Amino acid sequence: MAIERAGVIGSGLMGSGIAEVLARSGLDVVVRDISDEAVAAGRARIEKSFDKGVSRGKMTEDERSAALGRMAFTTDMAAMADRQLVIEAASENEEIKKSIFAELDSIVEDESAILASNTSSMPIIRFAQATSRPSRVLGIHFFNPAPVQPLVELVTSVLTAPEVVDEVEAFVSGVLGKEPIRADDRPGFVVNALLIPFLFSAIRMYEAGHATKEDIDTGMVKGCAHPMGPLRLADMVGLDTCFYVGQSMYAETGDPAAKPPLILSRMVDAGMLGTKSGRGFYEYGG
Ligand code: 3HC
Repeated sequence: MAIERAGVIGSGLMGSGIAEVLARSGLDVVVRDISDEAVAAGRARIEKSFDKGVSRGKMTEDERSAALGRMAFTTDMAAMADRQLVIEAASENEEIKKSIFAELDSIVEDESAILASNTSSMPIIRFAQATSRPSRVLGIHFFNPAPVQPLVELVTSVLTAPEVVDEVEAFVSGVLGKEPIRADDRPGFVVNALLIPFLFSAIRMYEAGHATKEDIDTGMVKGCAHPMGPLRLADMVGLDTCFYVGQSMYAETGDPAAKPPLILSRMVDAGMLGTKSGRGFYEYGG
């Protein structure tokens, strides 16, 4: 059965980006967050991105209106009842995510619906076990900015049914036009298992005063052809997200490379969350 009705839980940076990708691919999308303010901010982010798409000639005015017309924004979880695919993109907090999965399990009516998490590093099996249908649960992990990055990691728990992964793989490549890779349900999956130690090394290098933040970033951009340097990338991912992902990887593996640097913890406590708060390693206007 073709997936035509999707839901996204969370309208933050990733949730709104994922919802945008789904709507632009022709799906009917319901986006749910916990407060009117969060929902309005998510909607505004998507509208701004569509406006940018129109002004850069990537979509027409008609396509913009059609995509927005396919989207609904709500604080009501009951709106997920008729969804065939729901992607959870709430903040990286295991208890919150588990309770979302338990709630979805009781609300989503179609037993063949797929319940997915966009978690960056948390064990998918724990969310699967919060439901009565663990074989229909998997990780569908997008990369920031979701409308731009082609990759999607498909994370299978030990209980995910093989046909569910096959179905999602065909959907991700055929309908969303993204490039799927498969990953085991291990801390950080493929990409963050490699990326987080790299970002933390750069933060420790800055913390130790080895080089300026600009020189660290220029080093990787000009020396290794990275599209952006690690400190600017950490700002874009969100310093809170980097912190929580590292914390969860470190808790499971004990790998010191995944342990969040002290300065990162202090910056998160200070509300310096990177691009989204206007200040991280760099300052961002507007
Ligand atoms: N939404 C939609 N489109 C966007 C966008 C956004 N947020 N940001 C940029 N774009 C588009 C622009 O419109 C532009 O499109 P065009 O060339 O067709 O006109 C294109 O992307 C390039 O943008 P810019 O010219 O503004 O800037 P850059 O060329 O510097 O690219 C970037 C910006 C795409 C962010 C690039 O620097 C990049 O790819 N950086 C690396 C990002 C990365 O590594 N992401 C993964 C993070 S890890 C992660 O998400 C996992 C998580 O679990 C932690």
